[in-house]
Amino acid sequence: MKMESVLIWRLLPLLTLIASTLIFFYAQNFNKLPLDKCSLLPYHHYWISSKRIVTPEGVVSGAVEIKEGKIVSIVKEDSKHGNFKQEVVDYGEAVVMPGLIDVHVHLDDPGRTEWEGFLSGTRAAAAGGITMLVDMPLNNDPSTVSKETLELKLEAIKKRIYVDVGFWGGLIPDNAFNTSALEGLLSAGVLGLKSFMCPSGINDFPMTNITHIKEGLSVLAKYRRPLLVHAEVQQDSENYLDSDDPRAYSTYLKTRSPLWEEAAIRELLKVTKDTRVGGPAQGAHLHVVHLSDSSSSLDLIKEAKTSGDSITVETCPHYLAFSADEIQDGDTRFKCSPPIRDAANKEKLWEALLEGHIDLLSSDHSPTLPELKLLSEGDFMKAWGGISSLQFVLPVTWSYGLKYGVTLDQLALWWSKKPAMLVGQESKGVIAVGNHADIVVWEPDVDFDLNDDYPVYLKHPSISAYMGRRLSGKVLATFVRGNLVYKEGNRAPAACGVPVLAK
Ligand SMILES: *[C@@H]1O[C@H](CO)[C@@H](O)[C@H](O)[C@H]1NC(C)=O
Ligand SMILES: *[C@@H]1O[C@H](CO)[C@@H](O)[C@H](O)[C@H]1NC(C)=O
Ligand SMILES: [Zn+2]
Repeated sequence: MKMESVLIWRLLPLLTLIASTLIFFYAQNFNKLPLDKCSLLPYHHYWISSKRIVTPEGVVSGAVEIKEGKIVSIVKEDSKHGNFKQEVVDYGEAVVMPGLIDVHVHLDDPGRTEWEGFLSGTRAAAAGGITMLVDMPLNNDPSTVSKETLELKLEAIKKRIYVDVGFWGGLIPDNAFNTSALEGLLSAGVLGLKSFMCPSGINDFPMTNITHIKEGLSVLAKYRRPLLVHAEVQQDSENYLDSDDPRAYSTYLKTRSPLWEEAAIRELLKVTKDTRVGGPAQGAHLHVVHLSDSSSSLDLIKEAKTSGDSITVETCPHYLAFSADEIQDGDTRFKCSPPIRDAANKEKLWEALLEGHIDLLSSDHSPTLPELKLLSEGDFMKAWGGISSLQFVLPVTWSYGLKYGVTLDQLALWWSKKPAMLVGQESKGVIAVGNHADIVVWEPDVDFDLNDDYPVYLKHPSISAYMGRRLSGKVLATFVRGNLVYKEGNRAPAACGVPVLAK
């Protein structure tokens, strides 16, 4: 009896120590358990620290506090020491920037998943630092032109998107005069509408004329959402002759002159005046997609802005990176519409972007099957038009922008803040308290060769016009609403992106 009680007394401190150690480790590990598979980082509350955090107040050194998917504080360097009670991911000199929002993407799903699809497409987006993309209503089959066809997309994204995805609905002659059909589509959550002023190349997505566009704007006014327009109108004067070499890029260029863009924009401006304050379509907004012509077309848009029209314009990295004289005959990877024009045009696009006349950038990622690119025939007239680029837009904009002195703030403006405004997402697009923790971490000074050894997640890397290039700016990590979805070649086990629907 006596012996036993002595033993207990002797063992008690040890037992207490063991118990408290167990509790300590349990508590520690509880926080570290992969509570779900959505993130490569098992914390719900943590800090991302860096010497270069891109905020609306400029680039700061410090840390971003993230809790339950949101940014809850931004701590400047001086005040941060010793204050962290939770986990810190330190990125040193790497840039911490708002995730990119790509408002113009064709993922071809459902119906043409062999072209791209949500799975490969959003994985490539995550690897490229894109935290939200907006999927176009065409190239998927059927086209997204009604509430019912939008539902097919919502079904197709389930467990198949690594980043957040919003949707544009299609404005076509068939629904343009049917207010209840358009309202059904808008009420179902599309972020706005998209239409073409020339043939789209997709049978169930016919082109609209200016009457359809005017009708569309009047419905959109009520919802305060934008109409995106492919602004090219076919001009009779420029024809493809049998004597022209279809492998020559100059042939393709000749058949789609800047006059197509100019004519379309001139027509559009007849109806965008309705969007002015006090106008019949006040509340609606017109956004010109993928502008290529930096001369008359751009001047017209500038004038409209000055007059108070609610209008914005985007261009794409391929118009900023390439010029016609560099495109080899037969290299149909570079075919897109409107076409990539001459070097002087490219210089003027940069100028307009830097001066703010071009509002934002988008990829217009528009892939297809390698067979339809006709890479071996090299026939520019018959090949599918569209540039495959989604994973590379950040390093491309940075690499080609270096000689124009592009800043981190400008990248964040063109790729995050302005796109978020276009799609009406007030909780995205800037690193600010209360916003979604949508963040890209990247190394501006690291160069890489986009060769066959480079991990490309797009379904068909071979059709991308960027393959073979040397680029600057390597994406290290991508966070979507606090989930680390991509980290140096690895992705989160589960695809936990969510649909972004307008309310
Ligand atoms: C308008 O759209 C609605 C809903 O999609 C449809 O039921 C109706 O038949 C359409 N009306 C016309 C005239 O096409
Ligand atoms: C546009 O097409 C519709 C038919 O869908 C037609 O009623 C309208 O007059 C056309 N508008 C113009 C300007 O051609
Ligand atoms: Zn497009």
